[in-house]
Amino acid sequence: MEQRLSSRVRGIAPSPTITMDAKTKALIEQGQPVINMSVGEPDFDTPVRIAYAGIRAITEGQTRYTPAAGTLALRRAICRKLAAENGLQYTPEQIVVSSGAKHSLFNIFLTICNPGDEVILPAPYWVSYPDQIRLAGATPVIVSCDESTGFKMTPEQLRQAIAPRTKAVLINSPNNPTGAVYTEAELRALGEVLLEHDVYIVTDEIYEKLVYDVEHVSLPALLPDLKERTIVVNGFSKAFAMTGWRLGYAAAPLDVAKAMTSLQSHATGSPSTISQYAGVIAFDAFDPDMVREFRRRRDRLVAGLREIPGITCAEPQGAFYAFPNISGLFGRRFRGQTLENADQFCEWLLEEDLVSAVPGGGFGAPNNIRLSYAVSFEQVEQAIERIGRFVSKLD
Ligand SMILES: Cc1ncc(COP(=O)(O)O)c(C=O)c1O
Repeated sequence: MEQRLSSRVRGIAPSPTITMDAKTKALIEQGQPVINMSVGEPDFDTPVRIAYAGIRAITEGQTRYTPAAGTLALRRAICRKLAAENGLQYTPEQIVVSSGAKHSLFNIFLTICNPGDEVILPAPYWVSYPDQIRLAGATPVIVSCDESTGFKMTPEQLRQAIAPRTKAVLINSPNNPTGAVYTEAELRALGEVLLEHDVYIVTDEIYEKLVYDVEHVSLPALLPDLKERTIVVNGFSKAFAMTGWRLGYAAAPLDVAKAMTSLQSHATGSPSTISQYAGVIAFDAFDPDMVREFRRRRDRLVAGLREIPGITCAEPQGAFYAFPNISGLFGRRFRGQTLENADQFCEWLLEEDLVSAVPGGGFGAPNNIRLSYAVSFEQVEQAIERIGRFVSKLD
């Protein structure tokens, strides 16, 4: 056999967050007291009420397949949530529940993209988008954004990136990895550009509840004329600390939702029945204490990082990541070697001072590293100390 693997999978790289996580876990297994800031999941437990709804589903025999798009009860609950919290009116037929928002996104790209299509992707971006877009046969068109615009795409950049082959534009607010949150005015300005072009908009709002001092706004609620070509993605992983339950959803125009449902019916079938029963009550069990605690950690982490010479850090307004710029340290020397990039920085930081961070390259931002503050406040404090200590060792 000349090629054992398809060209489709040969083109994809393993997620850098997962690679870093594996290295970190190996060190932890050896007994090293690593502070793992490479994780992308809340360190809180799923609220007990939600957990019991899952247990009840099992003991009451709700353990069979559901309709491929999810139970009507959950899709109705999602419609109520979208109306009440986001000002978006959908019918249950427009909701497709999947095994995590990652799965929803994959379904979306497979459903709307043809080979040769382009998807506009502002960088820094969440690591899975480019590979998912490529797996759907399309090409990610990266629009680089940095600290100068708060890591946000401007209307001018969007206008320049849109081309005849553009099929969709992806907007992720609050953003992973930067924590950037588009304001209403910024979204409206992007929306005005999008009104002029017949392209899909995929808006990933999975971090919507994790915002600090700012408000999350959903683009189609601001500009309803865009709703017929917008697909809203959200999920339970981040807001309800339910990463392992694997539950996410998309709200889409009816034809897209129907096609996504058919696709899913042949690929994975319905998402976990147990998780869906838990999901129905999740919207009433949100724990605002989690947001308060994330905010406390964010404030401490950002302030601490800003005190380390050579590191700058924009203030994240959402999610649970800080995304400091470490390019001021490039060129410094450590044990006879020159620090050239963020990959090296993360590797050395982990080996030398036992803090695990993710290099920004995989997010399309080679000057930055991502530090998750989904660790305890005490660990945030220790991490600042360790990073400071490591940086002070650079000549
Ligand atoms: C921006 C973004 N979208 C989607 C997801 C997928 O979440 P899940 O598949 O757990 O619902 C993640 C998870 O890290 C994310 O950061």
